[in-house]
Amino acid sequence: MKSNVLVAGATGNLGTRICSELIKKGASVRAIVRPSSDQEKLETLRRLGVEVEVRDLSRVDDIAESCVGINCVVSALAGLAEVIVDLQTRVLDAALKAGVPRFIPSDFCTDYNFLEPGDNRNFDLRRTFKSYLDSTGIQASSIFNGAFADILKYNIPVLNLKDKSIGYWGDKAHWKLDFTTMDNTAAFTAAVALDDSAPRDLQIASFQISPDELRTQVQEITGSGFSIIMMSSLEEFAAYIEKQRANDPAGEYELYAKWQQSQYMYSMFSTQHAELANGRYQEIAWVSGREYLETFVR
Ligand SMILES: NC(=O)c1ccc[n+]([C@@H]2O[C@H](COP(=O)([O-])OP(=O)(O)OC[C@H]3O[C@@H](n4cnc5c(N)ncnc54)[C@H](OP(=O)(O)O)[C@@H]3O)[C@@H](O)[C@H]2O)c1
Repeated sequence: MKSNVLVAGATGNLGTRICSELIKKGASVRAIVRPSSDQEKLETLRRLGVEVEVRDLSRVDDIAESCVGINCVVSALAGLAEVIVDLQTRVLDAALKAGVPRFIPSDFCTDYNFLEPGDNRNFDLRRTFKSYLDSTGIQASSIFNGAFADILKYNIPVLNLKDKSIGYWGDKAHWKLDFTTMDNTAAFTAAVALDDSAPRDLQIASFQISPDELRTQVQEITGSGFSIIMMSSLEEFAAYIEKQRANDPAGEYELYAKWQQSQYMYSMFSTQHAELANGRYQEIAWVSGREYLETFVR
């Protein structure tokens, strides 16, 4: 029987890719969007074969009408509390009202189950939603992809192509960091959405690479030397982030405030994905670190 999947956040970077992967797998895909969503993005979705429904996302009843006959709701919404907690709660309530059996929340991050509450503001919002999600009895699956591999392109401390430096915290030059491409994340999410026996939590990574290995790879690709720098201890890093946050009250209203990006780095150096579910779906071609670096390191 054809699977019917509803995607919230379908106009987003990840959401559109998830829709495309679902269609490739033969699913019937419906997207709920808000009236203000970009028309061009809606056209892109329609061209993919997605059934686009404009809804009043402030009303559970309105969302529930789109949930009728749906097997799984996938959320790829991005935002702060009003989206990750409030809007996802309305989408979940609508799914429950319509009797949808499965729900994939917009986690798509490092597995915060192994991190301390308070370490990462954006993960705390996911935790708040998770506690409601798990109280409802719906069958939920979370996908933990570490960081999207794109961040390696932005001259972050872990890989700075401008300064030719690799940075790390603590004594963790050998610590494996989890990176997943957005395309791999989307393909995996689509497979999970169509897999009725998917477990609650799934850790993935296109590649796991340490600062040391990153240095070796970029040196081989570029043929030039890169320095490797211990930035600070993790304790000092935590204290620095606290100060950075205190000095930036406006960042409380920004999804990716500078201190939140630091919190993300701190998370990646605090936990690793130890049990990868990469092998669960054979059809996914995971991108290796080398392959990915070669797409942009010159
Ligand atoms: N692990 C990582 O490194 C990493 C990096 C980036 C993102 N992520 C996560 O990946 C997921 C998807 O992110 P993305 O980058 O694809 O996001 P994105 O491109 O910014 O798309 C966000 C989506 O959410 C919708 N949305 C946002 N606020 C809304 C609101 N108030 N009401 C209704 N819809 C709203 C947008 O709809 P409109 O088109 O109508 O605005 C859009 O469809 C999120 O969980 C995000 O945190 C992870």
